[in-house]
Formats: sequence, C-alpha cells, structure tokens
Amino acid sequence: MIRDFQDKSPRIGSNCYIDESAVVIGDVVIGDDCSVWPMSVIRGDVNIIRIGNSCNIQDGCVLHVSHQGEHNPEGAELHLGDQVTVAHKVLLHGCRIGNQCLIGMGSIVMDNAILEDRVMLGAGSLVAPGKTLESGYLYLGNPARRVRELNHREIELLAYLSDHYILLKNKY
Ligand SMILES: CC(C)(COP(=O)(O)OP(=O)(O)OC[C@H]1O[C@@H](n2cnc3c(N)ncnc32)[C@H](O)[C@@H]1OP(=O)(O)O)[C@@H](O)C(=O)NCCC(=O)NCCS
Repeated sequence: MIRDFQDKSPRIGSNCYIDESAVVIGDVVIGDDCSVWPMSVIRGDVNIIRIGNSCNIQDGCVLHVSHQGEHNPEGAELHLGDQVTVAHKVLLHGCRIGNQCLIGMGSIVMDNAILEDRVMLGAGSLVAPGKTLESGYLYLGNPARRVRELNHREIELLAYLSDHYILLKNKY
C-alpha cells in the first residue's frame, strides 16, 4: 500500500516490486529495481527516506526517521545507497547505509549511525546512535563491534544478494 502523508507522496522508481501487504508512506523516494517484501513499513512522515537502486527490504522490516525538534534540532533522515540488502525483520531508524551493505536479519540501526559502503552487519546486531562502521568490515553483536575484514567471497556476496533479489522480485 502506497499512501500519502499530508502533501507528500512516495515516489517509486521503475521495475520495483512493493508487496501488497507492505506500507510505504509520505516523503519516500525509492530507486529502480528495488523490492519491498511482505509486512514491511517504510514511514516517511516526520522526515525523509531516500533509497537508491537495486535494494531489497525483506519481510517485516521497519524503516523510520526522527523529526526536527527541541531535543533533536537536526532530526534524522534515513538514506540507503545502491544494492543494499536489508534482511528479514530489520529496524533502520534515521541512519545512513552505504552502497552494497548487508544488514543481517533482526538487526537494529539507530539514529545518525553511518554504515560506509560494503559493510556486513551480522544477524541480531544493534548499532548504537551516531556510530560509524568502516567500509569492508564485518560487525556484529549488541552493541555492534568490528570483528574482521570481509573476505573476497563475502564482498562478492554483497552484490550477489542484490542481484538475486532482483531476479526474485521479477518472478513476482
Ligand atoms: C556473522 C556471520 C556473517 C558469520 O560470520 P563467521 O565469521 O562465518 O562466523 P562463524 O559462523 O564462523 O561463527 C564464529 C562465532 O561467531 C558467532 N556468531 C555467528 N554469527 C553471529 C551473530 N550474527 N551474532 C553473534 N555471534 C555470531 C558464532 O556462534 C561463533 O561463536 P563461537 O566462536 O563462540 O562458537 C553470520 O552468522 C551472519 O550473521 N550473517 C548474516 C546472515 C543474514 O542475515 N543474511 C541475510 C539473508 S538474505
């Protein structure tokens, strides 16, 4: 379901698959070849959400933002680069995710955290507010800690997952 909020309507690129049980609201821009899977919510009401090309937002994810207010003058926008895989049941809140990242199943990324390009976040991790995760590394745990450099196969996996989800959404 794609819904307006006040005068803002989501803008969805070409060849996207938005499952009919997913909800996309307000000031949200989604690039081309993206997929949003069942029961996910992308709510751009109190700030903006920008998603690049070839991203997949898997089942049961929640993507939201923080408003600009007395306690948080900047607010927190949500930005995803290209070829980002957001695995099942992830919560992304007011953060920035670079290109070709994998956000492992059930993870939480909080306001103003930054994941540089090609970061793998292990399943069930929590990235605390304002943290920066460095490109090319595996992070995991609660709070998320840097574990090791990604190997060649894992770097390849990041693009592979995005490609795989493009093929899958094309079947839908
Ligand atoms: C972290 C991950 C990449 C595995 O990395 P790895 O280096 O191969 O780790 P291993 O499986 O060899 O496990 C090493 C240790 O880490 C632990 N571990 C593995 N994954 C973990 C996780 N997500 N969080 C915490 N600990 C984890 C293992 O239990 C093991 O602990 P031990 O040494 O005490 O036995 C993987 O478990 C993971 O979380 N992948 C994300 C999967 C996902 O969400 N995919 C999306 C599908 S579309």
